[in-house]
Amino acid sequence: KYHLKIVYLYSHMFVPLQATVDARGHRPLNRGRETYTENRYSPPPISGGGRYRGRPTAAPAGSSHSQEKVEQPDAGGCTHASEEMGILCPTGCELKTMLLKQERNVKTSINELKPQVEELSRSSNNVYNYIHSMSNSLRERQKVFNDNNNVMNRYTDRVEDQHAYIKETVDTVFPSNIRVLQGVLDKIKMKIQKLEKAIQTQREECKEPCTSSCPIPVVSGKECEDIYRRGGKDSQMYLIQPDSFYPPYKVFCDQSTQNGGWLLIQNRLDGSVDFGRRWDEYRRGFGNIAFDVGKGHCETPGEYWLGNDRISQVSKMGPTEVLIEMQDWTGAKVHAQYQKFTVQSDTSNYVLAVDSYSGNAGNCFLDGSLELFGENRTMTIHNGMMFSTYDRDNDNWNPGDPSKQCSREDGGGWWYNRCHSANPNGRYYMGGAYSKAMTKHGTDDGVVWMNWKGSWYSLKAISMKIRPFYAPS
Ligand SMILES: *[C@@H]1O[C@H](CO)[C@@H](O)[C@H](O)[C@H]1NC(C)=O
Repeated sequence: KYHLKIVYLYSHMFVPLQATVDARGHRPLNRGRETYTENRYSPPPISGGGRYRGRPTAAPAGSSHSQEKVEQPDAGGCTHASEEMGILCPTGCELKTMLLKQERNVKTSINELKPQVEELSRSSNNVYNYIHSMSNSLRERQKVFNDNNNVMNRYTDRVEDQHAYIKETVDTVFPSNIRVLQGVLDKIKMKIQKLEKAIQTQREECKEPCTSSCPIPVVSGKECEDIYRRGGKDSQMYLIQPDSFYPPYKVFCDQSTQNGGWLLIQNRLDGSVDFGRRWDEYRRGFGNIAFDVGKGHCETPGEYWLGNDRISQVSKMGPTEVLIEMQDWTGAKVHAQYQKFTVQSDTSNYVLAVDSYSGNAGNCFLDGSLELFGENRTMTIHNGMMFSTYDRDNDNWNPGDPSKQCSREDGGGWWYNRCHSANPNGRYYMGGAYSKAMTKHGTDDGVVWMNWKGSWYSLKAISMKIRPFYAPS
């Protein structure tokens, strides 16, 4: 009995060990039928001298923190045309532009019609006068040639015929043409009135700045480190342009963690954005960059994925580090940091390369899941993997077999191997612990970082931030 009690106590004290049994990141080999090739060739992350030297020492207090928060003149309004991501202004403003364009077109065609109508009424007047004078001369002639009836009758008949014909034309055809044109004109006038009314309404609405728009700070730069060095020291939404060949875009910069300069490339915090998306969406990016919570600038980041093209491009500008911060549902926080982080371009399916780990969350990217062993652990390493989505399978689980696709089972787009130890883009589960029964495919598809919380705990928050790597001064 004494012995049994010890066992009971023992198993109770080490409840976390239970998770070992249920560790689910991998897809074990079906012996004899499957093979697993753990190594793929993948280029190492970019290393070496950075584009930046250590941060210059801060200017004396007082002069340093004079960051302007001037809004662009059209901020809050309707003219930020290329908002690709984030909350947009109501489309009413586009309607306004469209209506104004239509109004211009209609006005042009009316202006073209007007002289034609005038010309027509002028010419019909001329015909009236002509007929009138003809009638007069006819009467005179009738008097003069009254005697020569025989001769005259024929002549008169012809003139009368002509007169009748012309008079009829003038009385009926011309006026009816004019009437038709008048009708067209009236209709156009009515349309213009309607358009003008719509435009007026739109103008009224556009006077109110749309509350969800984010004023863009005047400080801008290549990325968040550049912005920091140019004086953008508040964490908020900024416009960056890493490459002058491409248009600038919005990102959230964390300018306080570890001295700032961090560009947020991934963020989960409340499950408000669906991360089960297609290749193309992961390529372009999705979600909400930032929100204005009433302070006049967007200092609250939303859930988003910056987009593989952009992540790749920024990470390839030079040595780049990545910081992955996460939080459980009790508020506890840990992080994983890699001093080297490169994402290759789309032509190599955004292969991930990281190195030089530090932190207290566990080295999922390079080690895989520490709950697993041997081959099973190797299957959960992310370094060197290509990016996969449910509609584009590049993972390392029986490539080519459509029934064996990590992204389909694990909920998000990611650098899946066979399959994961970390799943930051997985399904968002409220409260943390979730079970196999709650999932779609019986796999650990939550927002998982196995080396911290195991397979069956979905994190409350996780984010990935990148920064150009430079040696501290
Ligand atoms: C791999 O995982 C499977 C099932 O989870 C298990 O049966 C097997 O023993 C594991 N292999 C190793 C080397 O741990």
